[in-house]
Amino acid sequence: MVQLTINGKQIQAPEGSTVLHAAKMAGIHIPTLCAHKELAPYGGCRLCIVDVEKWRVPMAACTLPVSEGMVVHTDTDAIKKSREFILSMLFSERNHFCPFCQVSGGDCELQNAAYDEEMTHWPIQPGWSNFNVDTTHPYFVLDNNRCILCRRCVRACGELVGNFTLSAAERGAASMIVADTDIPLGESSCIKCGTCVQVCPTGALIDRTSAYQGHDESLTEIKSVCVGCSVGCAVKVMVRNNRIVRIEGDWDGAVNHGLLCEHGRYHPVADSRTRITAPQMRKNGKLEPVSWEEALGSLADKLKLLSGDKNGVAAIASTRLPVETLAVFKELFAGNFKGALVTSTEEGMPTAVVTDFAEKNEAFEGKLDVLRNADTVLCIGANIQKSHMVAGFMFKRNLSKGTRLINIDPEDSELDDLANVALKNKRGSDLDLIKGLQAIIVKEGLGRSPLEISDTEGLIKKAVSATNVPLEELTQTAQILARSISPVILFGKGITAQRDEKLVEELYRLAVLVGAVDSERHGLISLKGEANSMAAALLGLDEAFKLNGQKAVYVALGDDYASKSLVERVSKAPYLAVQASYESSLTEKADVVLPVTIWAEQDGHYLNLDGHTQQAQKSLTPPENVRDNLVVLSEVAMRMNMTTKSDWQKSILERKSSVALN
Ligand code: FES
Repeated sequence: MVQLTINGKQIQAPEGSTVLHAAKMAGIHIPTLCAHKELAPYGGCRLCIVDVEKWRVPMAACTLPVSEGMVVHTDTDAIKKSREFILSMLFSERNHFCPFCQVSGGDCELQNAAYDEEMTHWPIQPGWSNFNVDTTHPYFVLDNNRCILCRRCVRACGELVGNFTLSAAERGAASMIVADTDIPLGESSCIKCGTCVQVCPTGALIDRTSAYQGHDESLTEIKSVCVGCSVGCAVKVMVRNNRIVRIEGDWDGAVNHGLLCEHGRYHPVADSRTRITAPQMRKNGKLEPVSWEEALGSLADKLKLLSGDKNGVAAIASTRLPVETLAVFKELFAGNFKGALVTSTEEGMPTAVVTDFAEKNEAFEGKLDVLRNADTVLCIGANIQKSHMVAGFMFKRNLSKGTRLINIDPEDSELDDLANVALKNKRGSDLDLIKGLQAIIVKEGLGRSPLEISDTEGLIKKAVSATNVPLEELTQTAQILARSISPVILFGKGITAQRDEKLVEELYRLAVLVGAVDSERHGLISLKGEANSMAAALLGLDEAFKLNGQKAVYVALGDDYASKSLVERVSKAPYLAVQASYESSLTEKADVVLPVTIWAEQDGHYLNLDGHTQQAQKSLTPPENVRDNLVVLSEVAMRMNMTTKSDWQKSILERKSSVALN
């Protein structure tokens, strides 16, 4: 620890920390603009200048490391004057009439900084040449006239997301933020995650839908969890008049640390599906609105008749539902209906083999955080850029710093362009490929732990012929992986959907061989599927949904999308009950439709892919006649005199988890 004094206060700060960080820890405010807690110190705006005794000139606190005995002053008259001058320069450079702007109302960091300095005007004449406003992007607008060139957006796009779409072009007063080679944002390589907008301290990058929808102080902020995939990003849902104005990544989020992808940030706000607002029953071949009493009564009567029938009921639930709801769903159907087929909409595709392997081997998977320090990432059967984008950001950002990427996928993937090696093996040849890599590593003596392989040559030959990948490429892959210090292996549905536990076993052996997994590190991770994929697996809702003449099917869909294959399979059922939030080709075929809450209208817990249990908070009040998913299942149970007193925390511990839960 280093001892220093700031504004007369004795402070201890960790070695290597900045004066800004030390001041913050001691509760001393130093104004900033270009600094951001998730970005590397930059020192561009100079607003954070402080006086250090015995130093000739003021220094930027955000880039100044603490040193023993340092004496710092943040609020001298000279510093205040300099700060005002810096702000005056910023105001004059572009279209910043912050002191008079009524639109930002506390949301603009530049305006806030000026008010903090009690500035009502500035003495320098504005003089800037107009920049074109880029409105080509579907979700946000780039207005260089309001930019202060703090480059937070550029740094976030590169340092956090690893996309490197944004940069600064030109020099001096003509400097401007551009996309790629100065092409319109909407035509650029932007992946629409919106991180640049979230970090922009002014109005240079503004959200198309939420801009001018009210100041932050008139919005209610609710901390919740994105249910777009199993990464489980923490979000802040900004609500006004029972409507989501925008969604932001929560910088305090344990998994995503503030980042979101297009699905998490923009899709829920732009959802244009039609809500179901009243229960419906099929009468004379047509769905008609009915009361809850009538719908639940008739459903319960139907189900009661089938409770003892071995081929009576099949039930399937979405993995986007909270774990509390999934646990009650399981208890209701698996516990009370003899021989019922009870599963989830993922049918165990991303999880069944992983959980089966864990049952025999304890928790073998790691946490996503290992990706941050990986020097090699091997992605196999995982199109992470599409399915679990934020997990991809965690290593994409390091590719330019030397982290190597190996992508193994028979399908074309956006990762191919980023990869040092992209192997296009023949579909179905993954097992031979993995064993071939093991054999090459053992043959070349590169393994970090012993692995008994009797016929290395035979396995290598088989790998080449089965995969159609040349020996040189397999060898290069094996060498990169084995020579890494902190490798991580990520696998996705391309592997798990094959439902071959041997694949997971051999991947595990490969991970141990190259040191991705040892007593200290857990660098083997499966991406799983939707938000509660993991919870569904632990509850045993991972069977294939093969209908076998069941007389009734119950689908707890919530706000999920019904796949074409699900609709086809259930449409032949003699009786179909669907609890859903939106109209779809599935609800069209139902005999009874129960309108239920969407994710933002219900409380509940989600267990993400690396074992974090997080709570989603209710952000909106549902429409009047719409009921909570959990309540509906409980009401069905009640009408059938069945019990559903599920303790979900206990239920998810009934199976061994593939990753440590926390
Ligand atoms: Fe320190 Fe910008 S916040 S220079």
